[in-house]
Amino acid sequence: ASLELGPYRHFMQKEIHEQPKAIRDTLSGRISDDNSRVVLGEVGMTAEQVKAISKIAIVACGTASHAGLVGKYLIEKLARIPVEWDVASEYRYKDPMVDQQTLCIVISQSGETADTLAALHEARRRGAKILAVTNVVGSSIARAADWVVYTWAGPEIAVASTKAYTTQLVAMSLLAIWLGQQNGNLDAGLAHELIADLRNLSAQASSVIEHQEEAIHEAAEKLAHSEDVFFIGRNLDYAVALEGQLKLKEISYIHAEGYAAGEMKHGPIALIDDNVPVIVLAPSGPLFEKTVSNMQEVRARGGKIV
Ligand code: F6R
Repeated sequence: ASLELGPYRHFMQKEIHEQPKAIRDTLSGRISDDNSRVVLGEVGMTAEQVKAISKIAIVACGTASHAGLVGKYLIEKLARIPVEWDVASEYRYKDPMVDQQTLCIVISQSGETADTLAALHEARRRGAKILAVTNVVGSSIARAADWVVYTWAGPEIAVASTKAYTTQLVAMSLLAIWLGQQNGNLDAGLAHELIADLRNLSAQASSVIEHQEEAIHEAAEKLAHSEDVFFIGRNLDYAVALEGQLKLKEISYIHAEGYAAGEMKHGPIALIDDNVPVIVLAPSGPLFEKTVSNMQEVRARGGKIV
């Protein structure tokens, strides 16, 4: 194992550092040279079949479900197809509304998660077509699906998902663009911009790892003795906040909550005081000001902002 670890202290650290390569591998062969199209030859659906999809059901567990929530936002925005999102352990028990016009997307790093496989079978039984996003070739979920989009993250040994999650985000981005291009709902100019962004992603991930690791380390030291931590964000960053809180619980045993930033004032803000750090996901963009105002509400209660 020490040979495999190389300069890293543990597999999770190694896998965090493998993200730039994993992202590159996920994109490889799937975007055209001129950045105009996403190419997903493995999804054998014609443009007519994509146009006939009445809704999409995204089902997964844990981290994969958080990647699925990002996928829901992206597909609804770019392909204008309604998306239902469920955690797989609930799916079977809700008498899901599925028919032959439903596309069910299951996401699973391992391709072996029992709840996800059971949800897949439930959707299939009710007539849906199944598209799997998975990392493991020939896994049970890959074999049970009509089509598979592999994430090509390479083996993930650490229990906590890192590069598998980031590549699931890339795969869901590719799928959303692809669906929008197939059904004609995605503007060509926007597609071009998004694909160019995807092409830059691996380099950006490298740059974060290279230049921000120290800052991240310092922030982590400040948080390490907290008992409770909140993650807040809006839209895609809300979905990312959910993943942040799961990862913190899993790795540090610190209690954490992920919230939609605008929802804090509807109750949970009562828990904020100067012992409770709040990690705010506020990238530049149309929701920046909105998120900053939620940050100020938190600060007014004494919360420490990261
Ligand atoms: C969290 C984590 C789990 C998995 C979940 C689903 O870091 O790894 O939440 O994401 O158990 O596993 P897969 O993706 O293999 O179906």
